[in-house]
Amino acid sequence: MSMNNGSAPVWDAGRAQAIIDAHAKLEGASLPILHALQDEFGYIHAEALPLIAETLNLSRAEVVGVVHFYHDFRHEPPGRHTLKVCRAEACQSLGCESLVEHLSEAGIVLGETTADGAITADTVYCLGNCALGPSVMLDGRLYGRVTPSRADQLLATARSGA
Ligand code: FES
Repeated sequence: MSMNNGSAPVWDAGRAQAIIDAHAKLEGASLPILHALQDEFGYIHAEALPLIAETLNLSRAEVVGVVHFYHDFRHEPPGRHTLKVCRAEACQSLGCESLVEHLSEAGIVLGETTADGAITADTVYCLGNCALGPSVMLDGRLYGRVTPSRADQLLATARSGA
């Protein structure tokens, strides 16, 4: 799982190739490579695809197929802050859907980056904080019992750079 916190380095083909090489011998290497690239850069740059294909001796279409099959890969650089909202069962029963709805009314739609580029929001399934849901992770930090107003506070603080 990506723990990227929005301060990912910019795309660097040499660094990407080193990451690809480091995982190339693994069985089913394309998946761990894609995860490692997303962890490093925050997304999968289009130029990574031919590098992976060439290193693993796959066609580019095969690599693209893997990227599209798994929905956790991002194709664009993430926003400055990364918000993950848990929508697994325990958080569901503690009201995470009203939080999701509240966020979306505020322009924070899961799976997207806000128009101002500040926040990339995603769904996750369990953050290991089930008794204290609804749980969110903001820039790698876990928060529990997140009510809509608490979410507003956290996001305002992140946006202000505090
Ligand atoms: S179900 Fe949300 S933290 Fe486990």
